[in-house]
Amino acid sequence: MPLFQFLLVVVLVLNSLENGSAGITSTYIRTEWPSTDIPLDNQVFEIPKGHNAPQQVHITQGDYDGKAVIISWVTADEPCCSNVKYGLLDNKYEFSAQGIVTNYTFSGYKSGYIHHCLVDGLEYDTKYYYKIGEGDSSREFWFQTPPKIDPDAPYTFGIIGDLGQTYNSLSTLEHYMQSGGQTVLFVGDLSYADRYQHNDVGIRWDSWGRFVEPSAAYQPWIWSAGNHEIEYMPEMGEVLPFKSYLHRFPTPHTASRSTNPLWYAVRRASAHIIVLSSYSSYAKYTPQWRWLREELTRVDRDKTPWLIVLMHAPIYNSNLAHYMEGESMRTVFESWFVRFKVDLIFAGHVHAYERSYRISNIYYNVSSGDQYPVPDKSAPVYITVGDGGNQEGLAGRFWDPQPEYSAFREASYGHSTLEIKNRTHAFYHWNRNDDGKNVPTDSVIFNNQYWGSNPHRRRHLKAGGHAGS
Ligand SMILES: [Fe+2]
Repeated sequence: MPLFQFLLVVVLVLNSLENGSAGITSTYIRTEWPSTDIPLDNQVFEIPKGHNAPQQVHITQGDYDGKAVIISWVTADEPCCSNVKYGLLDNKYEFSAQGIVTNYTFSGYKSGYIHHCLVDGLEYDTKYYYKIGEGDSSREFWFQTPPKIDPDAPYTFGIIGDLGQTYNSLSTLEHYMQSGGQTVLFVGDLSYADRYQHNDVGIRWDSWGRFVEPSAAYQPWIWSAGNHEIEYMPEMGEVLPFKSYLHRFPTPHTASRSTNPLWYAVRRASAHIIVLSSYSSYAKYTPQWRWLREELTRVDRDKTPWLIVLMHAPIYNSNLAHYMEGESMRTVFESWFVRFKVDLIFAGHVHAYERSYRISNIYYNVSSGDQYPVPDKSAPVYITVGDGGNQEGLAGRFWDPQPEYSAFREASYGHSTLEIKNRTHAFYHWNRNDDGKNVPTDSVIFNNQYWGSNPHRRRHLKAGGHAGS
């Protein structure tokens, strides 16, 4: 029996035990580095040399289907120039695209010139080289476009949340960069710059931009916003929510017919990824509610079998920290997540790792029904990866006993990877930062919620046959 099939059999057996087994609270005791931000003179924040040299370079998907990127960077001295030269290996800079430049102030801080350039019309599954900046100060990078939208396209996502800029953050970033992840799904709380005052807020956004560049300049980070992006700071005269975040991290929201960059969707390889905003209105009839209702009807599991939702505040989490902060969103959206058979919901916010079983609590209403989560095969698995390593430290206290919905939980820093193999199976790992070593700690093989474990199941259904449960 080939190794892949053997692994499948083993894990399918384990999966069959999933809802009958008690959850695990890991007893791992880690050696904790201090949760303090790395000093600004550390080399991880080094400013590239040269007049007006581009810094804080990062890319994100630029369209709905993965044939475009938005390239963003900052120059310190002049607004010139926002163009990107790009091309393939044999003619690296044959093409050019023109971007835009913006800047902003924040309590006395004046940002550098922030450039955003859409590079579109790309070929799938192709390595592109790009160059930004002028003359001796120019810098060169590359990225790989995803395979075309296809139900069996393999693709590996990394999932990182609540990263910050401490030595623990650096460990998470370095471990992720060794993981083979092709695109980051970022579940909010980027820089923790709002822990600073006045000018230092902007300065710590700049340092964070340089901190993540070794990954974010070379592969897309799919952004979602957390509470630390709100930056409502009236004591400093700053009352426009998400001001720094929105100036620095554009998203392709119009490509998914969203009217707000804080919520949107992209399709990549075999995945349809929906990004929600925990800190924008989502009650019934609001713009985000109406957009999500429409977007869910546009999901085509025959093209993108894997339906993934990102948000910041987790809906199911049994840590004492931030307990039930996702409850209001749960009451609005959970029934849709079940009806549309969402595969996975990733969140951050709680600084610990946790994975749920497939459960739902949609039968309760004010008058009747089950008043607690119950096993539900149509429900998503909820995963909290708020353990990137920011300066607030770990959330080490869980509800005891562990609730029945909680499958695995541990208060350590780390990141996750989701290796989509085909339309039916994906390998998932949570990787703890173990004082220098990369340790896969929680591993599951997920069956796709639409295709199950049988690649022919849906074809039988369409032909009128019996697909089983
Ligand atoms: Fe948060």
